Amino acid sequence: MALLSVHNLSVAIGSVSPLDGIGFTLEKGEVLGLVGESGSGKSLTATTVMGLLPRLGGRVTQGAIHFDGHDLTQLPERAYRRLRGRRIALISQNPMTSLDPILPIGPQVEQPARLHLGLSESAARDRAIGLMEQLRIPEAATVYRQYPHQLSGGMKQRIVIAMALMADPDLIIADEPTTALDVTIQAQIVQILADLVADRGLALLLITHDMGVVAQICDRVTVLYAGRVAESAPVRAIFAAPQHPYTRALIGCIPQENQPRGSLRGIPGTVPGVKDYPSGCRFHPRCAIAGPICQTEVPPRLLSERAEIACWKPGEMPHV
Ligand SMILES: Nc1ncnc2c1ncn2[C@@H]1O[C@H](COP(=O)(O)OP(=O)(O)O)[C@@H](O)[C@H]1O
Ligand SMILES: [Mg+2]
Repeated sequence: MALLSVHNLSVAIGSVSPLDGIGFTLEKGEVLGLVGESGSGKSLTATTVMGLLPRLGGRVTQGAIHFDGHDLTQLPERAYRRLRGRRIALISQNPMTSLDPILPIGPQVEQPARLHLGLSESAARDRAIGLMEQLRIPEAATVYRQYPHQLSGGMKQRIVIAMALMADPDLIIADEPTTALDVTIQAQIVQILADLVADRGLALLLITHDMGVVAQICDRVTVLYAGRVAESAPVRAIFAAPQHPYTRALIGCIPQENQPRGSLRGIPGTVPGVKDYPSGCRFHPRCAIAGPICQTEVPPRLLSERAEIACWKPGEMPHV
C-alpha cells in the first residue's frame, strides 16, 4: 500500500475552490514531483496534506488523504499535531518561515526531537550536530551556536532540512526548497534530498516548477494545472512521451545547453486566477490543439496502472 495516497481531493477557501478532485500516490523510498506553474495549487496541496488548511480558513469539501492507512481528512487537530513534524515534515521555499531570527540555530534544530521523541538536551544536541554534519554543514558545532542571519541561504536551507529530519519522519514535503538559491547551491540541495531518500527510505513529495529538477531526482511526476491534475506518470514516460499538451509545454521550458542565456521559452499566457477558471479543460485557452469540446467539457480522466491523464486529445502533437 502507498504511504501517501490522495484521492479525488477538493478544497474550498471561502467562495473559491482552488483544488478540484486531485489525486496522486507516493510510496516509501520514492520521490514524487508535484509540478506546475505558479498558481497551479501546489502549495495548497502541501498545506492540505499538512492539515494546515483551517489556518487559511479553508476546508476539504471532497476526497481523502490516506497516510499510512489513516484518512487525514478525518484526523482531529490534536492527533495532527502529533503527526506534523514527527511523521510528516514540511520544508518550505523560504527557510526563514521555519527559523526564528532571534534564536540560535541549535535549540531550533533540536526542537522537533525534544518535542516528539522526548530526547534529553544533550541527546538532542548530539543528534542535531550529527545531522548537520551529515548534511555537510562545515563546522557544525560552531554553526550550532550561531544565529540565522550569520548563515548563507544554502546553509539556512540545510539547517531547515536537518530540522525536518530530527524526529525521523516517514514523509518530507519540500515546497520549492531551492527556488531562492542560486543554481550551484540548488543542485547541491537537490542532491542532498535525493541521498536522504536513498539512504533512509523516506518518501519525498517535491514541489517544483522546474522540470530540470524533476529530471534530476523524481521517480514519478504529477502535473497540476489550475487546481486539477493534467497528467501523472513515471518520470521516464513523462519525458519520453508526454501525453498532455501542458506537460509538453513545461518540458519545452527547460533551458537547453546550447540556448543563448535569457532566451527561456515560456508558455504563452498565464495560469488563470481561481475566480476565473475557464469551462471545459482549464488549459484550453493556452492549448495549441484545443478543439470545441475542450472549451465546454471537462476532459475525462484516463487511468492506467501507473499513469493518469486528463485530456481530450492525449498524445496528439500540435501542427507546426
Ligand atoms: N488563502 C487563500 N485564499 C484564496 N485563494 C488562495 C489562497 N491561497 C492560494 N489561493 C489560490 O489558489 C491557487 C493555487 O495557489 P498555490 O497553491 O499557492 O499555487 P502554487 O503553489 O502552485 O503556486 C491560486 O489561484 C491562489 O491564488
Ligand atoms: Mg507555491
